[in-house]
Amino acid sequence: METVWSLCFPNFCLLLLPVLVLVLANGVHSHAQVKVFDVRSFSAAADGKTDDSKAFLDAWNQACQYKGEVQRRLFVPLGTYMVWPVVFKGPCTGPIEFTVKGVVKAPVDKSTFSLDHWITFQYVSGLLINGGGTFDGQGQYAWPENKCACKSLPVSLRFNFVNNTAIRSISSVNSKNFHFNVFKCDNLEFRRIRIIAPDESPNTDGIHMGDSSRIRIADSVIATGDDCVSIGPGSKDVEIIGVHCGPGHGLSVGSLGKYPNEADVTGLSVRGCTMVGTQNGLRIKTWASALKSNVYNISFSDITMKDVQSPIIIDQDYCPGGGCSKQIRGTSGSLLAVNLECSPTFPCQNINLEDIDLAYTGREGPAKSHCAHGCVGKASLENEREFLYAVFEFSGMQGRGTDHRGDGKAY
Ligand SMILES: *[C@@H]1O[C@H](CO)[C@@H](O)[C@H](O)[C@H]1NC(C)=O
Ligand SMILES: *[C@@H]1O[C@H](CO)[C@@H](O)[C@H](O)[C@H]1NC(C)=O
Repeated sequence: METVWSLCFPNFCLLLLPVLVLVLANGVHSHAQVKVFDVRSFSAAADGKTDDSKAFLDAWNQACQYKGEVQRRLFVPLGTYMVWPVVFKGPCTGPIEFTVKGVVKAPVDKSTFSLDHWITFQYVSGLLINGGGTFDGQGQYAWPENKCACKSLPVSLRFNFVNNTAIRSISSVNSKNFHFNVFKCDNLEFRRIRIIAPDESPNTDGIHMGDSSRIRIADSVIATGDDCVSIGPGSKDVEIIGVHCGPGHGLSVGSLGKYPNEADVTGLSVRGCTMVGTQNGLRIKTWASALKSNVYNISFSDITMKDVQSPIIIDQDYCPGGGCSKQIRGTSGSLLAVNLECSPTFPCQNINLEDIDLAYTGREGPAKSHCAHGCVGKASLENEREFLYAVFEFSGMQGRGTDHRGDGKAY
């Protein structure tokens, strides 16, 4: 006892003394290591009608530029806030939390429909968005304007040049266009996110990303009108784990090859996900163009699909609007479980599909597969009865996919 005491005492006390003095000097507030910037103290009306954008921006700017050594938090308490299009810009002087308990609503004024964003975070590092609150894009007032699904309505939440950021425990509902768009970001995590819009809502992709690396989407529910997650050119090291998708169009890589000099998609791992009632399951689509783009190192494993119209598609003839040099072959028949529509000039290489359990329950009999052009190796699914695993190999890279049916789980 005595040796311990005498060994520890000098260092210990000398180190602790300044800390103790600081704590006492700061009084009761010092235990809270957080400086809170409540939008209500910046005159947010929180009545759901008054434009509260200025309060949000003022709170952001002060929190972002705060010089103290404590954690800073922009706080949106319970209540409903109307926020017009805003850009929350960094860089900030340190990490920043954006905690939303309430409901933040987008305007329904048509003058805002031509903008590309509702809420944008830009040039920020060390951002944490959390709080259990909701971003409501009020897309139901804009979708009728976009029956052709060809208009660019505002994306609900854009992340441009954002690093080391987590978005947790929040909901995005009824976005006018995509719910989330990730561009030029590194190290972003989406966890426990709820993304909700009607299945007939146009272009309401859940999370779209491009030119970004180390993006993780985990333990989330995405029920929307377009792709649950879409992975555009330049995406690198993407993990999607424990995501429920449906309704929606499934999980898409692409579309790729539309523009010259697109960056490749490398490293995508999808594990433990469920697709229910989606139009597609896992889809890789490239335009039928001569533009070079590559997709490497993709792995799908432990994916549960229920009533998915086209569970696995690789389509090198993607051409939704028409006017391409080639026709798209039918990919929507629910009888067609696996569709590999590879291009005759640039065939898919080294695709292995093994043991896929994708039974079709309709009257027309067992599920079918289709493989056009250059399906090498074991790509043609000779066995169209019941399959149990899927193994993909792209350009020599390997991934492994499992399909279990009817696990009785309800999301
Ligand atoms: C994000 O990371 C990139 C690459 O390291 C860097 O160039 C950029 O300045 C970072 N952005 C912010 C806002 O920290
Ligand atoms: C694919 O993954 C392997 C193993 O992780 C890695 O060595 C290789 O560089 C990756 N290829 C590309 C093109 O990213």
